[in-house]
Amino acid sequence: MRVLSGVQPSGTLHIGNYFGAIRQFIELQEENDCFYFLADLHALTTVHDPEALRRNTWELATAFLALGLDPAKAVLYRQSDLVEIPELTWILSTVTSMGLLQRCHSYKDKVSQGIVPSHGLFAYPVLMAADILIVRSDLVPVGKDQKQHLEVTRDIAASFHARYGDGVFTLPEPIILDEVAVVPGIDGRKMSKSYGNTIDIFGPEKAIRKRIMSMVTDSTPVESPKPREGNGLYALLKLFAPPGEKAWVERAFDEGGVGYGDMKKRLFGWYLETFGEARRRYEKLSADPGQVEEILQDGANRARQVVAPLMEKVRRRVGLR
Ligand code: ADP
Ligand code: TRP
Repeated sequence: MRVLSGVQPSGTLHIGNYFGAIRQFIELQEENDCFYFLADLHALTTVHDPEALRRNTWELATAFLALGLDPAKAVLYRQSDLVEIPELTWILSTVTSMGLLQRCHSYKDKVSQGIVPSHGLFAYPVLMAADILIVRSDLVPVGKDQKQHLEVTRDIAASFHARYGDGVFTLPEPIILDEVAVVPGIDGRKMSKSYGNTIDIFGPEKAIRKRIMSMVTDSTPVESPKPREGNGLYALLKLFAPPGEKAWVERAFDEGGVGYGDMKKRLFGWYLETFGEARRRYEKLSADPGQVEEILQDGANRARQVVAPLMEKVRRRVGLR
């Protein structure tokens, strides 16, 4: 199956992004023909500092590679390296009704969060449809919040086929990732950069230790059993504990005698066991930016081979050239 997904370079990757998305992307590379890209054109709707956009894009590419994306198995590219994507976006926008975009929740949600209501923000789903349709992906792993954009993509493909004849695009199916795992943040709510409650995957060890040690807990005394319900620390311990240590977590909560401070120290140790190797790879790749750039260029070239014949067909169908 052909799989495609994109991640916006709009901030630092946190462990929720890993367990909720990146880990699944990387697993999918074993059995599928995967295309993953850094959605820098989408990020322009919210990131207005050029240096920050470049840095975030770079860090996201490095993170994908450090976390196990294998360029021999999956294609990794920068969205903006494929100029065919904005070309297809324009063509698709001429078959997209205003009503379809006006019904999109994410535009309204973003505007209510205070994001500038630009035309780009409004047309965001058309760019996303172009990303997906241009490589003819069968499956698109995304969070629940993106499900509507997949429906819009299918509608846009159908409108194109209705006007110009079918057989050009593949109608993609979503794989909804939110059902995999919702990772809580240090305040117990869903981990999200917009809540400021994240634990990062990369970055200085000391800062991460501090974040983990500052997790919000209740005031149950050390010797007492601890409540599991709504306890973010419990959820993270279960997520990170190596198989042989899961029983320790259960006992610590059931029997008492282990304080939250000690649990957090364990959590930090397991965090380092989980991400230690990736963190070392990240350091190594950061020291060799040329290698990351080469991988992205190679990814763009491989993606272009898939995109070029499709775009020829689209241009012919609509009467360009
Ligand atoms: P954020 O909420 O921090 O802005 P994004 O919306 O950029 O994160 O999420 C990118 C991907 O990571 C999405 O596919 C989303 O489903 C996943 N993800 C983000 N936060 C979590 C979380 N706390 N638990 C599980 N998955 C998450
Ligand atoms: N809109 C997606 C997000 O914010 C990112 C994205 C852009 C994407 N283009 C895509 C995801 C195409 C899947 C397919 O998470």
